[in-house]
Amino acid sequence: MPKKEQSQAPVDRSGMSRLVRDLLRPYRGWLVIIFVAMLVETAMSLAGPWPLKIVLDSVIGHHPMPAWAARLLGPGVADHKMGLAALAAGLIIVIAVLENAASYVDNYYTESVGQYVANDLRLRVYHHLDRLSLGYYDKQQTGNLLSTITTDITTIQNFASAATLGILVDILTIIGMLGLMFWLNFDFTLIAVAVTPFLLLFVSRFKKAVKKATHEVRHRQSDIVAVVQEGLESMRVVKAYGRETLEEQHLQQASQAAVDAALKARRIKSALSPVVAVVVSLCTGFVLYRGSYLILHDAMTIGALTVFLSYLSKFFKPVQDLAKMTNSIAQATVAVERVQTILAADEMIPEKPDAREPRGVQGEITFDKVAFSYKPDSPVLKEITFKIEPGQLVGFVGATGGGKSTVASLIPRFYDATQGRVLIDGTDVKDFKLKALRNQIGCVLQDTVLFAGTIAENIAYGRPGATREEVVAAAKLANADEFISRMPKGYDSEVGERGMTLSGGQRQRIGIARAIIRNSPILILDEPTAALDTESEKVVMEALERLMKGRTAIAIAHRLSTIKDADKIVVFKDGFVHEQGTHDELLGKNGLYAELYRIQFPTESGVPPAPAAAAPAAKA
Ligand SMILES: Nc1ncnc2c1ncn2[C@@H]1O[C@H](COP(=O)(O)OP(=O)(O)O)[C@@H](O)[C@H]1O
Ligand SMILES: [Mg+2]
Repeated sequence: MPKKEQSQAPVDRSGMSRLVRDLLRPYRGWLVIIFVAMLVETAMSLAGPWPLKIVLDSVIGHHPMPAWAARLLGPGVADHKMGLAALAAGLIIVIAVLENAASYVDNYYTESVGQYVANDLRLRVYHHLDRLSLGYYDKQQTGNLLSTITTDITTIQNFASAATLGILVDILTIIGMLGLMFWLNFDFTLIAVAVTPFLLLFVSRFKKAVKKATHEVRHRQSDIVAVVQEGLESMRVVKAYGRETLEEQHLQQASQAAVDAALKARRIKSALSPVVAVVVSLCTGFVLYRGSYLILHDAMTIGALTVFLSYLSKFFKPVQDLAKMTNSIAQATVAVERVQTILAADEMIPEKPDAREPRGVQGEITFDKVAFSYKPDSPVLKEITFKIEPGQLVGFVGATGGGKSTVASLIPRFYDATQGRVLIDGTDVKDFKLKALRNQIGCVLQDTVLFAGTIAENIAYGRPGATREEVVAAAKLANADEFISRMPKGYDSEVGERGMTLSGGQRQRIGIARAIIRNSPILILDEPTAALDTESEKVVMEALERLMKGRTAIAIAHRLSTIKDADKIVVFKDGFVHEQGTHDELLGKNGLYAELYRIQFPTESGVPPAPAAAAPAAKA
């Protein structure tokens, strides 16, 4: 269900037009070609009715050609009627050929610009998303982002290829026609097109309403994507709980809202064309009536009236197009705004300009009075202080929600501490180059995500460029080689969404191989065996022990047996370090750890767990 809306930060206009200019800059050459082609098109469409005028007035009728035209053609053609007719016929063909050749060029290059602008924009948005911190993703619905990077960018593409320069042609056509009409008959034109300003005013008033409605439509559509995406992603849970109907209801609500919004937008938009059409017919009727009168009184030729009528019909088409364009403009503006909202997001983990490359990291980790909160005013960590010596294995224990994963995520700077310092080898993590810092840290989490690709590619994800030998060696150390070799295609078996499914234990071993091949001095193991049965836990634990050898390792454990032999155990409770020490020291203290331990191993300690203390253990 849509729990969070995409943030609707006000988008500044200058940023938007800068973005558009930026995007178009590489294609200036094409734009010039398009522009020239459009000029040709416009000129030809203006010339269109003139051959007919020549025939009506000078071949059939008895009006002489204008002096300049007669001079241009020479006496031979100008005085010979069928010669003129042939000339008019030839002109029709020339005009059509030029107009359509130009239209071909124009179509091809506008589409090219549209396609490439969309291509650039897609890459740019994704590049930006890649750089945003996890804090950003905590607040965003993936579906909304998906919808922007697909639908909104396609809208922009369509607009760029269909509309941008079309507007220019429309305006040029209108200006050209007005000029020619005035030249033919000044006052008549004035009356005929007197309504145009009112029409344009009406259209522009319209724009606002259409844009608002369009915004709503896009919003609802992207909600649909979000709902569907969430539902499909969680299909296993949905099925397990039999909540298909509920999910369908969510979609139904979102879908209905989209339908309502679309219909509302359509109601507004549909009013436009009829209004324009009626106004056009009023003008045409008037021109026909008034023109007949003028011809009867010899104030105008039949050819001129023909040109007039033909222009009038064409004249209102660009006006109408411009009116329809408000719709596309509204959609494109909304799309650009949504893209701009993503590009304007600046929740990045900052890198200092003088940040250093970490060299020869030993792996000493210090937390110095660290405090942190995901959201302002609800602190998750308070005054966390502990120290891990290089090469030590340290276990983090405590109830779920105690802040163990959060503490670990501060080391690779997935988030930044709000107070205090996190140090590696005595240097604040903020002083390191971000990518290089993360290179020093390997992670194995509760669930290993496999990407679409082969097993070998998935292992090499830990260090791009790893050779096949290195991949196999890592898999062997991770206890994974044995099951991979049994697969029909071995290391080249496809996994991920469309490939074969691996069991949890197998996935974890791939995850461990990934961490082994990364070969980083610091390791974070966030409950890597939590989801496994005892059998696969044993194999995975064995692999983990090999992985941890010679590295500083933080092992977040739900089963205390896995960290019993750790050099140090840190117990978290409610965002504080509750106690720390070795297993024996902590048992001796008889505090929270001792209590947790007794709950998990009642027989060893010989003390039966108190019923009241069972609750945290069940959650841990
Ligand atoms: N991405 C997040 N956004 C907001 N709150 C979070 C996020 N991740 C964890 N929390 C909250 O922070 C607290 C500590 O969580 P976590 O570090 O995952 O605990 P643990 O790993 O010990 O179970 C919990 O109250 C949890 O709800
Ligand atoms: Mg956790």
